[in-house]
Amino acid sequence: MLPWVELGRAKVPGGDEFRLMQRGDEFTIFAGTIGLMGSRQSGSEEVMADIAFARVGGRAKARVLIGGLGMGFTLRRVLAKFGADAEIVVAELVPEIVSWARGPLAGLHGTSLDDPRVTLKLGDVGNVMAADAQKFDAILLDVDNGPEGLSRPGNDRLYSAGGISAAKAALRPGGMAAIWSVAPDPKFTKRLGQSGMKVEELKARAHGGKGARHVIWVATRG
Ligand SMILES: C[S@@+](CC[C@H](N)C(=O)[O-])C[C@H]1O[C@@H](n2cnc3c(N)ncnc32)[C@H](O)[C@@H]1O
Repeated sequence: MLPWVELGRAKVPGGDEFRLMQRGDEFTIFAGTIGLMGSRQSGSEEVMADIAFARVGGRAKARVLIGGLGMGFTLRRVLAKFGADAEIVVAELVPEIVSWARGPLAGLHGTSLDDPRVTLKLGDVGNVMAADAQKFDAILLDVDNGPEGLSRPGNDRLYSAGGISAAKAALRPGGMAAIWSVAPDPKFTKRLGQSGMKVEELKARAHGGKGARHVIWVATRG
C-alpha cells in the first residue's frame, strides 16, 4: 500500500492542528489522528447542496452561506446547481485551508473560489451569521464531525441553543439550515426542535450511495 505523505500543517485557531496528507491521488485532512475530510468521501457533503437547491434554489438572488470550505465539495455542488444571480458566502476559519485549495488541492477545487458568485470570509462562521444583516436563504454548516466537535472546543457554541437561535436569526423566512454530522446525536436533535424551526433528520451515504451513513439535519424557519 502507498504511504501517506504530509503536504502541510495548520494551527486551528483555538484548537489543535490540521495536517493535509496525500496517498497516491487521495487526500485527507486530519484533525489529530482522525480524518476530518477525505477526497474519496464527498457524497453527503454534496447532498447538503442538493437539499438546499431543492428547497430554496428557485428563489431570485438566493443567498447561501457555507461553513467551512474543507475540500470544497459542498461549494462546487452549490455552484453547479444555483443560478447566475445567487450569492454564495464561504466562511473558513483556517487560512491554510484556503492556501491548500489554491495549492496542492487546486485539482479538486478548480476555479470555484474565483467564481464571481463567491465571497470568501476568513473567520468563524458563527461571526458571519451574527454580522451579516442581509440574511441567508440557506446555511450549510459542516465545520466539524458534528455537534460533538473535533476541530476546536469553540465550535460547540454553534451547536448550542444560542448557536441554533443565531442560525435561525440569520435565515430569511422559509429559509433552511442543513447541519452535517458523522453520527446521530439525539440531544442535538432535541435542541434543534426546541428552536421552533421545522426539523428533519436525514441520512446520506458517504460515497456514491455506499459507505457510512452520515446525518444531515434540515431546520426550516417558518
Ligand atoms: C469537514 S470540513 C468541510 C467539508 C466541506 N463541506 C467540503 O465539502 O469539503 C470542515 C471545515 O470547516 C472549517 N471550520 C472549522 N471550524 C470552523 C468555524 N467555526 N468557522 C468556519 N470554518 C470552520 C475547517 O477548517 C474545515 O475547512
